[in-house]
Amino acid sequence: MSEEKKSENINKKGTGNVSRRTFLKDAGFVVGAPAIGTIAASSGQASAQDRAAETQSEDGSTVSRIHTEAATTIELTVNGDKYRFTVEPNWSLRQLIRDEIGLTSPKDWCGGLGACGSCTVIMNGRPVLSCLTLACECDGANIETAEGIAKAGHPIIQAYIDNNAFQCGYCTPGFVCTSKALLDRNNNPTEADARDALGGNLCRCATYQQHPPAVLQAARELKKT
Ligand code: FES
Ligand code: FES
Repeated sequence: MSEEKKSENINKKGTGNVSRRTFLKDAGFVVGAPAIGTIAASSGQASAQDRAAETQSEDGSTVSRIHTEAATTIELTVNGDKYRFTVEPNWSLRQLIRDEIGLTSPKDWCGGLGACGSCTVIMNGRPVLSCLTLACECDGANIETAEGIAKAGHPIIQAYIDNNAFQCGYCTPGFVCTSKALLDRNNNPTEADARDALGGNLCRCATYQQHPPAVLQAARELKKT
């Protein structure tokens, strides 16, 4: 039996943007239209002709690739969009979000050691380190990233701007996700609550003192709505 299997990742409502396609092509992955991808997936191992045909499509909604037998299929929601992916057992959630979906806000400052918080996203209402969360454990999960929080117009974004709560911005998506998760579970946080919640997020630009005021401003704005 072949040690590899062909499967497809279908972005049901996702972005399908150019940069994602460009990345996948540059990385040697196969990008194709849904119908072509389905045919290739059902025929077992893909031939070179299959892959060439799929690569010719400009439709970024389906990605086909070779997987190991250990791969599993998951369905999850990211920023309100539903996805189905076949994932390898060693893929992290951060890898899935960045490399497969093309959302780049989860960063990697500490090399995936769980030490910096820059990869933080919200999973089922709780902030999680996406570098230490296995993608295969995310079946049925509801994920929010900083892109989704900004797109929804959450006041934490404007509060970060108003309070100059960043300099280079590398760590900021992680701080934003942690702050938003705090506000979701506590609509009246104190400064101590904010400091405690953000204790796992590191900032090499040292903007720490600006984050609690931003969280408290966002809390005040949320009370008005
Ligand atoms: S990349 Fe540093 S905690 Fe995840
Ligand atoms: S703003 Fe630069 S690392 Fe935090």
